[in-house]
Amino acid sequence: MPRSHVVTSADTAIALGSGDVPVLATPRLIAWLEAATVDACPELGADETSVGTRVDIEHLAATPLGARVDAHAEVVHRDGRLLRFAVTAHHDAGQGHVLIAQGQVTRVVVRRAPFLERTTPSLLIREALPEELPAVGELRVEAYIAGYGMATEEVGYAAVLRDAPVQAADAEVLVALREGELVGTVAIARAGARLAEVAQPGEVEFRFMAVAPHAWRQGIAQALLEAVIARADDTSLVCSVIEGNEPAARLYRAYGFTPIPSRDHEPAPGVRLRVFVRPPGAGRP
Ligand SMILES: CC(C)(COP(=O)(O)OP(=O)(O)OC[C@H]1O[C@@H](n2cnc3c(N)ncnc32)[C@H](O)[C@@H]1OP(=O)(O)O)[C@@H](O)C(=O)NCCC(=O)NCCS
Repeated sequence: MPRSHVVTSADTAIALGSGDVPVLATPRLIAWLEAATVDACPELGADETSVGTRVDIEHLAATPLGARVDAHAEVVHRDGRLLRFAVTAHHDAGQGHVLIAQGQVTRVVVRRAPFLERTTPSLLIREALPEELPAVGELRVEAYIAGYGMATEEVGYAAVLRDAPVQAADAEVLVALREGELVGTVAIARAGARLAEVAQPGEVEFRFMAVAPHAWRQGIAQALLEAVIARADDTSLVCSVIEGNEPAARLYRAYGFTPIPSRDHEPAPGVRLRVFVRPPGAGRP
């Protein structure tokens, strides 16, 4: 049985960003054809599912809003876990059923639980998207206020923490996401970048390590630090820790950072920063 659909304004190339005309978008058509392959899958084991791995489809004709589209799939080849489907789509836009797409889709049968375990890390660390940077700033402020008593009225420093969108121009801002929720962040800058405060030539500096207070003591800062170390390759890493911030100092020591008192500095009266350096290959991981 084909799957039938009616083209709505949510299905157009404009709506999906795949073009700028108000006709059925190719990616929506492909999704409908893939859905037809799911319907046409032979019966699988209770712990199995199938995932699409290859799509080869010709989109032959444009379909207007309001038209009906029937998507059809049938298995034409099976080789162990691999299933190949022939797919077709027809539309009815007033002239009866007209072929609008044809091709092949390949699916692979997988065991659901191991597949999800492999592909869904409990914590995902990646570079931030530009639109995430304002939230990165807010998270930093929240963590720094809860962390070592930065007072809310320290407007000057809060503004620096919120400046992630500008800093991202020559620094790499990483985010840690747990089930899609932003729970941590850190920024990496090479010597010479605006954000690099103490890095000497050849060193990589990281700043603004921050974890959302409700997620403290769950290994998120460790994971961020491991991501920083991995990105630094064979380069020395350096960071500054405000005097008295023992949680951070303890974390960095555990990863092979050592304090270098000769490089300590006082960027503002009463704000004493201790510099920690990690030569490549030192300590965990
Ligand atoms: C410091 C901070 C980033 C730690 O984040 P976190 O995700 O809670 O840290 P983790 O769970 O990965 O802990 C890693 C290690 O840090 C140290 N640590 C973290 N919180 C600590 C605390 N409250 N007291 C003592 N040590 C602490 C411990 O060594 C811990 O290892 P352990 O749990 O095996 O003992 C977080 O508290 C924070 O955002 N603080 C405010 C901002 C800040 O101080 N940033 C650092 C600027 S240099």
